[in-house]
Amino acid sequence: MSTEIIKVPDIGGDSDVEVIEICVAVGDKIDAEDSLIVLESDKASMDVPSPKAGVVKAIKMSVGDRVSEGHDILELEIEGAAEAPAAASVEAAAPVAEAAPAPTPVAPAAPAVASVETVCVPDIGDSGEVEVIEISVAVGDEIAEEDSVIVLESDKASMEVPAPVAGKVVEILVNTGDKVTEGSEILRVETVGAAAPAPAEAPVAAAPAVEAASTAAPAAGPVRKEIFVPDLSGNNDVPVIEVSVSVGDELDAEDGMLVLETDKATMEVPAPYKGKLVEFNITEGQTLNQGDLIGVMEVMEAAPAQAAQPVAAAPAPTSAPAAASTVTQAATPATAPVASAESGRKTGKVHAGPAVRMTAREFGIDLLDVTPSGPRGRILKEDVQAYVKQVMQQVKSAPQQAAAPAAAAGGAGIPPIPAVDFSQFGEIEEKPMGRLLKVGAMNLHRSWLNVPHVTQFDEADITELEKFRKSMKGEAEKRGSKLTPLPFILKACAYALQKYPQFNVSLHPDGDKLIQKKYIHIGFAVDTPDGLLVPVVRDVDQKSLWELADATADLAARAQKKKLTADDMKGGCFTISSLGSIGGTAFTPIVNAPEVAILGVSKASMKPVWNGSDFVPRQMLPLSLSYDHRAINGADAARFTAFIAAVIADIRQMLM
Ligand code: COA
Repeated sequence: MSTEIIKVPDIGGDSDVEVIEICVAVGDKIDAEDSLIVLESDKASMDVPSPKAGVVKAIKMSVGDRVSEGHDILELEIEGAAEAPAAASVEAAAPVAEAAPAPTPVAPAAPAVASVETVCVPDIGDSGEVEVIEISVAVGDEIAEEDSVIVLESDKASMEVPAPVAGKVVEILVNTGDKVTEGSEILRVETVGAAAPAPAEAPVAAAPAVEAASTAAPAAGPVRKEIFVPDLSGNNDVPVIEVSVSVGDELDAEDGMLVLETDKATMEVPAPYKGKLVEFNITEGQTLNQGDLIGVMEVMEAAPAQAAQPVAAAPAPTSAPAAASTVTQAATPATAPVASAESGRKTGKVHAGPAVRMTAREFGIDLLDVTPSGPRGRILKEDVQAYVKQVMQQVKSAPQQAAAPAAAAGGAGIPPIPAVDFSQFGEIEEKPMGRLLKVGAMNLHRSWLNVPHVTQFDEADITELEKFRKSMKGEAEKRGSKLTPLPFILKACAYALQKYPQFNVSLHPDGDKLIQKKYIHIGFAVDTPDGLLVPVVRDVDQKSLWELADATADLAARAQKKKLTADDMKGGCFTISSLGSIGGTAFTPIVNAPEVAILGVSKASMKPVWNGSDFVPRQMLPLSLSYDHRAINGADAARFTAFIAAVIADIRQMLM
């Protein structure tokens, strides 16, 4: 055995970076690649994984410390290593998110016509494919070098990608939700001071440039132009959540007219022209599709190719040389909706790091309401904290008007739980809640407030199932599998979801439709030291019991080691929460919305059961089905639960 000091590795040139989380404790046995700490700069938050496996002997830093490359993180006892005379030093593995990744503009246009550059995803460590969770700019935006353009999120970190050049965004090549890797094209920027591309260079004439058209063909007088909903990237019946204009408004091209919201993104629909809005009939709450008429504008200048020929929100990245493709796209009007998590609600851009954005999302804070105090107008964590304090003070000082501020703090005008100074009653210590706990708390709270819950209780006689399961123990050991009741319950639930498809639905956000799922993916709750995780087993109906046993064991083990990917936890239709190995006779689980039901399983016990003439000892498994009463009626819930109980009691039924 030897002891090594693990140090902060190269963090992409950043220094004095804040430690926002310590993921291990003294005495923990860790694997190589397990996260040790989370650091946050003003541009990225990053997990620092362990370079080696071992046991944590001492931790050399605290949350809130500011550190740089080479700082001691912790002392690790390396198992199996030869005794070393003194503590050796080793750098932690490179952090998952390179701090402030320096994006490399690739394939700039030839110097003579270097007007447009394509910005690509920079080196993002070994993150592989990561998701675009936010697009921070819109077509037409003037951006400065280092302005954040998109935010990426892997399973370990979120990171902002700053612009490598200043200029005007002429095309966005990704959408929120897209998966990208190093080198993927993000957007094209017309660099500051560069000559506008000559119209002659545009290889495609179908969509003439706004500028080119207006200078080449000035109009004689006002022209009436109809404005249509542009390409919504395949989304239909998208609700209007905000209307920013009314008849008579004088608009500039790019002024926001509407905000649409799908379940994944908020999109602003900008005006395609400068002019006067003379007809407009859109109201909040109505739904729109691509091609729907938004209104009519009187336009004083020659019209660009407008939203009737909309640009796809996410044109497929082209492998054509940058010069050709950028000029084509520069010629395209900026009427495609701008998918952005935050930019749509109000006008203005927000500069904030991923951790700050995540905190704001968790508390339901619109960052546009927060006053920035950081460099270049960046919102810092302290700004969000100050905003929350300010809102809370308003609540306290104006209890008679509590409804509005309470709505900002908690929603639906629910009176907040009063803050109590517990230190007046005895010694206390404030402990930060981990990220997982906070996200879990927010999800549970959201489901609890939105879903009218009812819980149906039942019992399954598992006497025969247990006999069968125990008879298979030897076989399970040979295969290296562990056959607990969980795979049987999963299989029975899949069978019940096929028989009662009304449980395999989600409510459409517009409230007047149900979305019927034709696949059966089931999540199961895993209790981890950091909080609850719900990995999802796919196509449960098509898997054997052995496959289900192995899949659940693998997912549960990875959940414990924080090795689940975002995809492992997506797409569930129904959830099982089993507390059977712990105890209890029943409980009321919270529906994992937008699913509509969850099955709670408690500890099986031997009970006397009346068989018509005698009491006989039977092993009974308690079931608690919580469901969304908006989607499911009580009689169906009773039938569904009884069906699961019957199938578990006699699994031969699944063969019928
Ligand atoms: N009744 C009696 N015994 C049960 C049981 C039940 N309902 N369910 C499981 N057991 C037994 C198992 O058979 C096993 O015993 P065995 O080794 O003698 O066969 C033992 O309990 C331990 O099982 P476990 O290893 O926990 O496996 P599992 O497949 O039952 O559960 C998880 C796996 C991941 C679901 C479980 O570990 C877990 O994390 N549960 C907590 C979920 C939670 O926190 N839910 C709350 C959400 S609000």
